[in-house]
Amino acid sequence: MNPVHADYFAGGAGEERTLRANLAAFDRLRIVPRVLRATGDRDLRTTLFGAELATPILVAPTAFHLLAHPGGEAATAQGAGAAGTVLVVSMAATQPVERIAEAGGPLWFQLYPQPDLAFTAALIGRAERAGCRALVVTVDSPVFGRRERDRRHGFTDLPAGLACENMRDDTGRVRSIEMDATLGWDRIGWLRGVTGLPIVLKGVLHPADARLAVEHGVDALIVSNHGGRQLDGAVATIDALPAVVAAVGGRVPVLVDGGIRRGTDVLIALARGADAVLLGRPVLDALAAGGADGVRDELRRLTADLDHAMALAGAKRPAELSPDLVVAG
Ligand code: FNR
Ligand code: LAC
Repeated sequence: MNPVHADYFAGGAGEERTLRANLAAFDRLRIVPRVLRATGDRDLRTTLFGAELATPILVAPTAFHLLAHPGGEAATAQGAGAAGTVLVVSMAATQPVERIAEAGGPLWFQLYPQPDLAFTAALIGRAERAGCRALVVTVDSPVFGRRERDRRHGFTDLPAGLACENMRDDTGRVRSIEMDATLGWDRIGWLRGVTGLPIVLKGVLHPADARLAVEHGVDALIVSNHGGRQLDGAVATIDALPAVVAAVGGRVPVLVDGGIRRGTDVLIALARGADAVLLGRPVLDALAAGGADGVRDELRRLTADLDHAMALAGAKRPAELSPDLVVAG
């Protein structure tokens, strides 16, 4: 891969403290396994919004897959589908959602609500007609994070010939994605009026916001700091998770992403109360290295790694994993 683009994928905001913290927080946690639990018939199937997935590991929305592999987002969708899981299509995908949907599924669609409400509503309509089954609204980006690697490289735009294809309007013009610092909770009500899809809020870290999200009728939360790409210094997601889970109190599913690299990381996240996890960079790396097959194999490998860790920790199903299995190490 072009090293400038590799840095865009790998990098975080500022000093990259949060990027490192997401990984370091897992390093500080240890598993207290149970024994003699007859875990021969393990089952990792996970149901979200009534749809059964083969694994509790989903693919997080990430931008610009054509920079990683000529198969682009379609290859990622194909690989995720072959592994029996969801790809969350980024609003900043380099292929149109319709084309991605032809290659695989199930898909969810990630949105940065745009100040142009008519355009936003039209885009949600496109995602629905393409078959996306949930709308993931990213709320950690009122302004764009300061990515120092990108600044050093002067990486500001996609190379000629590539575009954010979901930002093409009726006239054929590709709009730029606008971050909107005027967004408030009222926009959730507006979204509810525009779509019947489940609404998932991505980027919640504070338990008070988790409570507000449930009060505003949100259907699920993703505890996320955008992989350390937005507020540098933000809390590691695995550290923020327990308070969010407690605030939600089982009323809606809670997902988490950030720094998940091994089956034991997934196990710890599930034990701390997550219903599922998402992977960002590991899937981008797998896409770059091996296209659709690379994505499929990476997701299967991590699922097998989780299955192995569950056998060793004494759990047959994700629901059997409980907070007492995790301690500070
Ligand atoms: C992202 N992420 C992201 N999130 C989002 O809501 N919309 C987007 O378009 C993107 N784009 C994006 C690009 C790249 C290159 C990365 C690495 C990340 C954040 C992503 O969904 C997820 O929160 C993190 O990637 C999870 O952390 P890990 O698994 O990368 O450590
Ligand atoms: C990023 C944006 C596109 O993290 O979400 O690069």
